[in-house]
Amino acid sequence: MRLSYFLYLFFICRSLGCLAVSSISSLEPLFPNQTLISPSQIFELGFFTPNGSVSQYVGMWYKNFTPSRVVWVANRHQPLDYKDQFASLTVGGDGNLRLFDGARNVVWSTNVSRGSNSSVAMLLDTGNLVVEDSGNTVWESFRFPTDILLPGMKIEINVKTGEKRYLISWKNSTDPSPGNFTVGVTSEIPSQPFTWNGLAP
Ligand SMILES: *[C@@H]1O[C@H](CO)[C@@H](O)[C@H](O)[C@H]1NC(C)=O
Ligand SMILES: *[C@@H]1O[C@H](CO)[C@@H](O)[C@H](O)[C@H]1NC(C)=O
Ligand SMILES: *[C@@H]1O[C@H](CO)[C@@H](O)[C@H](O)[C@H]1NC(C)=O
Ligand SMILES: *[C@@H]1O[C@H](CO)[C@@H](O)[C@H](O)[C@H]1NC(C)=O
Ligand SMILES: *[C@@H]1O[C@H](CO)[C@@H](O)[C@H](O)[C@H]1NC(C)=O
Ligand SMILES: *[C@@H]1O[C@H](CO)[C@@H](O)[C@H](O)[C@H]1NC(C)=O
Repeated sequence: MRLSYFLYLFFICRSLGCLAVSSISSLEPLFPNQTLISPSQIFELGFFTPNGSVSQYVGMWYKNFTPSRVVWVANRHQPLDYKDQFASLTVGGDGNLRLFDGARNVVWSTNVSRGSNSSVAMLLDTGNLVVEDSGNTVWESFRFPTDILLPGMKIEINVKTGEKRYLISWKNSTDPSPGNFTVGVTSEIPSQPFTWNGLAP
């Protein structure tokens, strides 16, 4: 399911040749000159700047797919400056995956309470970014879709907890912040799938 336009992106790493890593931990943060790669090299996660944008994001894309298509964005609400080379994505002593800007302000965090200082973030071949602590998954990106539904992801609403999972379009082809279109299901039983343009079904 694809809600936004085909994207032409500028990846810092395409031009500089980045170092690939297989996990992120408190001792080994991810910097803009590195990418996190899934075990069979299917997905790649790293810092990117959409073509024509002055904002930098942490996102995930298919490693060997041209032109690149970003399938998930961490900080779609809080962009980094595109010149910020000292940003870092790291796992804190409390097990949370956090994105810091170059001035060490937290711009995005997983906000979970079940991790510890041994938590590790890994990118699976399914395109799921997971934070694991002693073999338990304490956070996963599949629970927080952006605008793309990958196999294994769900859009759903939990009537007990009120937790909602939607797909929300990018604002436009260069701005991943939430746009006008949402795909989700309603809370009635049985629930119905909808696409909304703003509030209008
Ligand atoms: C970025 O946009 C400019 C202006 O629209 C265009 O000339 C250039 O080819 C684009 N670059 C990529 C990588 O798509
Ligand atoms: C990558 O960037 C980090 C932070 O700016 C820096 O410490 C490190 O030396 C860089 N590594 C390479 C290989 O350029
Ligand atoms: C983090 O989670 C707590 C409870 O789980 C919630 O109250 C708080 O608003 C969340 N903070 C952010 C920044 O999402
Ligand atoms: C992690 O926390 C434990 C218990 O608080 C402590 O003993 C250990 O030294 C910490 N490890 C690191 C790498 O900080
Ligand atoms: C996308 O939206 C941003 C504002 O959110 C605007 O500055 C930019 O020009 C737009 N780009 C395109 C290609 O429409
Ligand atoms: C999104 O909604 C705003 C406000 O209704 C409108 O101005 C804008 O053109 C819409 N954008 C798209 C891509 O439909």
